[in-house]
Order: sequence, then structure tokens, then C-alpha cells
Amino acid sequence: MSGETLGKRTVESLRQMKQQGQKITMLTAYDYPTARILNRSGIDMILVGDSLGMVLLGYSSTQEVTMDDMLRHTAAVARGNTCCFLVGDMPYLSYESPKQALENAQRFLSVGADAVKLEGNYKEIVQHLVGHQVPVMGHIGLTPQTATNFKVRGRTEAAARQLLCEAAELQDAGCFSLVIESVPRKLGAQITQQLDIPTIGIGAGPDCDGQVLVWHDVVGIFEEFTPRFVKRYALLAPEMEKAARAYVEDVRGGIFPGDEHCYN
Ligand code: KIV
Repeated sequence: MSGETLGKRTVESLRQMKQQGQKITMLTAYDYPTARILNRSGIDMILVGDSLGMVLLGYSSTQEVTMDDMLRHTAAVARGNTCCFLVGDMPYLSYESPKQALENAQRFLSVGADAVKLEGNYKEIVQHLVGHQVPVMGHIGLTPQTATNFKVRGRTEAAARQLLCEAAELQDAGCFSLVIESVPRKLGAQITQQLDIPTIGIGAGPDCDGQVLVWHDVVGIFEEFTPRFVKRYALLAPEMEKAARAYVEDVRGGIFPGDEHCYN
């Protein structure tokens, strides 16, 4: 069934999916054509992740991503979105105080996001946003904006307890959902069981309520590195290169444009 026939996903419909044991699907997108494709695919949620800094803009980390970057790409995705629940990722240093966080979160909503996501255990910020009708998705475990390494989180008993505690606090603060990144599968399952809100895992095992991956990893157009948790469903980079090479050959050989491409 095409995504569009399922209707627009909402905070409420995502909560019901958890209750009914239906898995929630989420992918990142950063542009209009990808948003159109994902809408047709049946995906429930689209994240305009700050991962765009690395996979799309060529920055060396997500710390360089600005609000302007995020708003331009969120608006582009929103123009192609009809039925997915659209989450905009608040970039590094954009939620340093409740006032700044609210202003920036409202800018995401004004360009078409349904909710914002922020990394870390910022309970007061979450409470402030939710108190002003901004739906918030939390993000715990490996939080790339502030990470100094990309190792799995929550491996020791104390670290696991800490993450279970953060998850509960973010739920209590009002998050409608939680991304859990790079934790052992057992901990992903424990956090999911403990919460009423849906968990969306990335490298957090199969027992989360849903899964998210970065689109450029899924279709094989980001070639720099591939984390263990990625499953690649297509390998488009060589195909794109092949198309570009064929074009170069055709133009150089006088084959393109042919008669059929000319106005007479
Ligand atoms: O920025 C992003 O794409 C993310 C996902 C990996 C969860 O935060």
C-alpha cells in the first residue's frame, strides 16, 4: 500500500502503533524529490537530520550545521511531504536556553515540520517546548553533536542505568518519542519496555518500537564510512558515476544531443 493511502501520521497514531505492536519506520531526507519518493514508499516518519551536514554538505562534523541549513532543507522536504510525520533536527548550539530553543523550534514548525528532535537529556528545554505546543523527540545513547568517539554507549551497568534514567526523565518531560542510538540490543529492549512513548532505534537492536537510518547510507551514496548498524538496500554511487561517465563520452563523441533532443 502506498504511504499516501495510509493518511497523515500524527503523534497519536504513532503512539497507537506502539500500543498495537506495529513497527514504526523512519528514514532521513533532505530534499524535495526524496520526500516524494519516501511518501510513496509507506515510510511513517521522515527526519531532516543534521546528518545532512556530513552526507550532503560535506562538513567534517554535524557541529558545523546551522539553523539556516536545517530550515532550507526542512522546507524542501515539507514541500514534498503529504503523509509522513516530519521531524526537524535542532542543530548544535540551537537549544542553549529555553527562549532560544523555543524560537528555533517554532522556526522549524513554521517551515512545515511536525516536531523537532534534540540530542541529550535537556529536560527543562523539552518541558518548555512541550509547554508551548512543540512536539519533541528526544535522542539518547550516542549523540553525535557532542560525541568525542563513536563507540557503543551503555555497555557497563552504570552507563545502562544512566540511559534508562535519562529515557524516563525525557518521557516525563513530555517527549512524544525517543531516538536511541548505538546501544546494546538488550538495553534498547529494556528502554523500550520501560517507556509508554515509541522508541526509534539506530544501532539499538530489533526490539525498539521503530527503526531509523540515514537515507544516503541506505541507498549507497555516502561512501566515506558505514557504521555496523547500517543495512544498505541499494548501491547507487557506482550507478551515478556510470551515468556521468556515459554522458561525458556522449558529449565528447558528438552523440549527445541527438536529433531527438533538438528543436527544429
Ligand atoms: O541526524 C540524523 O540523521 C540523526 C539520526 C541518525 C537519528 O540524528
